[in-house]
Amino acid sequence: MIAIKNEHELEVMRQACKITAAARALAGEMVRPGVSTKAIDQAVHDFIVSQGAKPSFLNYSGYPASACISVNSTVIHGIPGHYTLKEGDIVSVDVGAYYKGFHGDCAATFACGAISTEARRLIDVTKQSFFEGIAQARKGKRVQDISHAIQTYVESNGFSVVRSFVGHGVGRQLHEEPEVPNYGAPGRGPRLIPGMTIAVEPMVNVGTYDVHILKDGWTTVTADGKLSAHYENTVLITDGEPEILTVTEGL
Ligand code: MF3
Ligand code: CO
Repeated sequence: MIAIKNEHELEVMRQACKITAAARALAGEMVRPGVSTKAIDQAVHDFIVSQGAKPSFLNYSGYPASACISVNSTVIHGIPGHYTLKEGDIVSVDVGAYYKGFHGDCAATFACGAISTEARRLIDVTKQSFFEGIAQARKGKRVQDISHAIQTYVESNGFSVVRSFVGHGVGRQLHEEPEVPNYGAPGRGPRLIPGMTIAVEPMVNVGTYDVHILKDGWTTVTADGKLSAHYENTVLITDGEPEILTVTEGL
């Protein structure tokens, strides 16, 4: 069952998502050489708590931190730790906040100082693929219309989309129905209905789409060691344009 949120629930979700987006922005501002991923995680944690919310990821299936911080060839679920960022790194930060019964979920990849032109292009294509996807996130369309638009855009730019992790419904639970893959045939999957809230989150690799999960059970890396980027927002299906809920005022 795909949950349809009513106006009251959406008002609360907007608040949860605003906190989540602000946490992402704060993390992005901390990305610079010499900063440890642990310090960014701590700042994300403290900010979310200061807003009266809870970090959605902390202890989720045993996940040990508030943010996922995935550097270079780490695709997702990088566990913050002692690694200090260096010039040229690309840094994916994924955050979630739980507020008054609802979750927000968003991510972005940030440049640490000057990065290669290929890395820049990867970040830009990944972000744009999200917007290509949500151009299809309209009432009456189907989930895989989003998926297909993302895949087409990414592959036409010579990159690949990760298959083994997908976007998802989000609301009272961090992960709800439906699954929102970043690849697939158009015209398939559940029909989109106003009041659905979904996390659309393309994970894009420079090389192969294959990934490996490290022995810690979380850290997911590209199989070929090449770069990966991630971009995610929580999105509301409406009667018209989709509404991006994980927005920061002034950004
Ligand atoms: N944004 C990711 C997702 O939607 C974050 C999950 S990390 C976890 O799956 F730790 F919470 F699992
Ligand atoms: Co997500």
